[in-house]
Amino acid sequence: METKLLYQPLDKVEADAVAFLLFEEDPAPAELKFASAWLDELRASGEFSGKTDELAVLHQPHGLRARRLVLAGAGKRSVPNALADSAAVRTAVGAAVRCLKQKGVKRLAWCLSGADAEAAVEGAMLGNFEPDVHKTANQGKSLEAFHVVAAPNGAEIDRAFERGEILADSQNFARELANEPANLMTPLILAGRARAMAAEAGLDCEVLDEDRMRQLGMGSLLGVSQGSAEPPALIIVRYTPAAPSKSADHLGLVGKGVTFDTGGVSIKPADGMEKMKYDMSGGAAVLGAMRAIARLKPSIPVTALVPAVENMVGSKAQRPGDIVTSLNGKTIEVLNTDAEGRLILIDAITYAKRLGCTHLVDAATLTGAIVVALGHVNIGAFTNHEELLGRVMAAARSEGEKMWHMPLDEDYKELLKSPFADLANIGGRWGGAISAAWFLKEFAEDTPWVHLDIAGTAWLDDAKPYMAKGPTGVCVRTFTKLALNW
Ligand code: BES
Ligand code: MN
Ligand code: ZN
Repeated sequence: METKLLYQPLDKVEADAVAFLLFEEDPAPAELKFASAWLDELRASGEFSGKTDELAVLHQPHGLRARRLVLAGAGKRSVPNALADSAAVRTAVGAAVRCLKQKGVKRLAWCLSGADAEAAVEGAMLGNFEPDVHKTANQGKSLEAFHVVAAPNGAEIDRAFERGEILADSQNFARELANEPANLMTPLILAGRARAMAAEAGLDCEVLDEDRMRQLGMGSLLGVSQGSAEPPALIIVRYTPAAPSKSADHLGLVGKGVTFDTGGVSIKPADGMEKMKYDMSGGAAVLGAMRAIARLKPSIPVTALVPAVENMVGSKAQRPGDIVTSLNGKTIEVLNTDAEGRLILIDAITYAKRLGCTHLVDAATLTGAIVVALGHVNIGAFTNHEELLGRVMAAARSEGEKMWHMPLDEDYKELLKSPFADLANIGGRWGGAISAAWFLKEFAEDTPWVHLDIAGTAWLDDAKPYMAKGPTGVCVRTFTKLALNW
């Protein structure tokens, strides 16, 4: 889709539709004075009052070149919360795009005030994404052009618009990766996609292969991958700021990259197992964030690590009860081979610390338990460092990605006791998302660390008005803003 920022008077705009956003109780924009009779009638009839997802379409608007005039509702303003309003702009534009492209609109122009340009272009690009690349027919109902029409007000709006384009493009890149089925997205294919992305963006990329990981002693990661014919990869992508950074801080982003999770010998039920192709959504998110970071150039160094493996059954697969030695030397009794995410993440976390990362944030589709706790709305956030979590949460809030601070009291630690090894890889039935986070924490040790469990938020089982069913690309915008705000 072509995206462009235009400075044009309304009556010069050429498009299939030209749209305005209206919050409830806001007066109609001054540019629409010529259509005031239509607007009054819409309000009086109760057909349109600015509620979320409302849409009114006027064909052949008098005096415009555009073929339709569209009003989209954005809901109530949450005064004085400008951030909530920008989330409303993102979803309202997204919802309108999804509705209008269904009606055959190809070229959409959106008139708005400068402050909303970033959220608007994001909403349009995210709403235009469809997960149907492998269908041979029925494609083509998408927008070809999205133009923002604004009053010129300096470089600020240009930058906001460009930031929105980069963030949404990178989020859609992550969604593409997560959407691919496991036969088309093996660990090595994921590594290849990371390499290509890095080359295009001007980032450094290194991929550790199985031999190298064995030399290093990543026994925990390799234990998971040993059951698969697909070789594992530890993908490392580095961003180095052009000017040497003033602080010694170095952000590490770690993303779970299980390209398919059968559960291993502790096998999952067949029903719904196909969804486990999205078990590399955390890895996709950190790669998406690196793509945006390369273009938006924050001032701190950022290193992404994606341990990529396939969790399979077979005669080479690890067994319940196996004991593995992780990179940092701690031994683990693998009581359940389906708790594999934590086993690969800890070796990546240890390696990230060796590479000099001073602050770590990981994203992982780690537990079904977080879905039980928080449903599909909030990311579960765990930390050993309140200040770092504060930064992550501030970035998430500015991007409209919801997260909830989960507890990590010492009391939970004993859940991971094993009579035979330093740790067991599961903590029993209750508080499963917390014992999983505790397991990671044992390897983050005293490095400031935040763990985001995105099992409930990385995939939509049903489409939202503003987003298609399937991968969401959650965390791409939050991670990018986290680095930019550092
Ligand atoms: N990838 C799953 C977690 C998951 C479940 C993601 C549902 C998305 C939707 C993870 O590897 C897993 O299997 N976790 C187990 C852990 C258990 C064995 C302690 C789980 O949540 O059941
Ligand atoms: Mn699993
Ligand atoms: Zn998994």
